[in-house]
Amino acid sequence: MRVEFQIFRQLPPEPPRWQSFWLETSPGATILDCLNQIKWEQDGSLAFRKNCRNTICGSCAMRINGRAALACGRHVGEELDPRSPQPQPIRIGPLGNLPVLRDLVVDMQPFWNDLSRVDPFVSTAGRRIPEREFLQLPAEREHLNAAGGCILCGACYSDCNAKEVNPEFVGPHALARANRLVQDSRDSQREQRLQALDSLAGVWGCTRCWNCNSVCPMGVAPLDQITELKQGILSRPVDKTAALPTDRSPSHAVRAIRTESLPIAIRHRKTLVQLVRSGGWIDERRFALQVVGRDPKGLLSLVPLGLRLLARGKFPFRFQPSAGAATVRRLIDTVRQKGRDPL
Ligand code: SF4
Ligand code: SF4
Ligand code: FES
Repeated sequence: MRVEFQIFRQLPPEPPRWQSFWLETSPGATILDCLNQIKWEQDGSLAFRKNCRNTICGSCAMRINGRAALACGRHVGEELDPRSPQPQPIRIGPLGNLPVLRDLVVDMQPFWNDLSRVDPFVSTAGRRIPEREFLQLPAEREHLNAAGGCILCGACYSDCNAKEVNPEFVGPHALARANRLVQDSRDSQREQRLQALDSLAGVWGCTRCWNCNSVCPMGVAPLDQITELKQGILSRPVDKTAALPTDRSPSHAVRAIRTESLPIAIRHRKTLVQLVRSGGWIDERRFALQVVGRDPKGLLSLVPLGLRLLARGKFPFRFQPSAGAATVRRLIDTVRQKGRDPL
């Protein structure tokens, strides 16, 4: 079969362009096979990364038909619309949220920088083993399997909506790694890690768009990892005695802890439940305002985010309540009546 490949070409600072290549190929060929064939037979200047050709190394991540994927893991047949009488072009571009170095090759440095922000190794104290190896139960190890399967390909980072508009957000790959460590029985920094991630640059910056779960080729499910981190943050015991000021009553002190040490987490969760209860899903226009925009400083911090959303055409001007809003409201009220969460 003859298929057209539209490939992103750029050598910055030159502007980008799309170039078409026609190839005689088959449905079972991988996209990487096709890129190799184009490079070897038609244009040796085409730049892309590859290594293992077996979905192991993560080098060949790119956007295929608008969605981040491993070129060696996707087949031509999967990328063609079976309903179309003529094969549609397959469009191949570089990963998003990262600067292009040349054609399909991006600069991964911001991705590595963000990973290093979560201190991505088991803490040194946990590795200091005086007499014998550090033992883990099989069940403890098994709990780490999903996050431990990350090959750091960058697909989730590329398609992360939060990263696109909030450069401070640490990214799904880093949060998945953070949870891998928080859940690791050998790590001695659980509390410090949870505290550091309790911010808009951490878990509360995620918009729960599900893109990372959808594109991850290894089943890491970063959004699920983020959800587990949030549960860890929200279920931390409040240490009442540690924050008791000597000249204030205990009840005042407890209130002080609740409003000062967990402000974003609690407000984020409360706002989410309130908005979902009222509209069936989240009204994005009100969400950020209610979580961080209550004081002049918080409001100011939203201005750059709002401008970036506007520039990318992602600013939600209108809100349409969900068709199932009444059912959602009933469910939330039932949970509340039973004295369980949500808030
Ligand atoms: S679910 Fe969160 S972390 Fe995952 S891609 Fe969406 S915004 Fe990013
Ligand atoms: S979480 Fe998945 S998509 Fe993200 S870097 Fe790891 S393997 Fe790639
Ligand atoms: S070449 Fe290694 S994952 Fe594709």
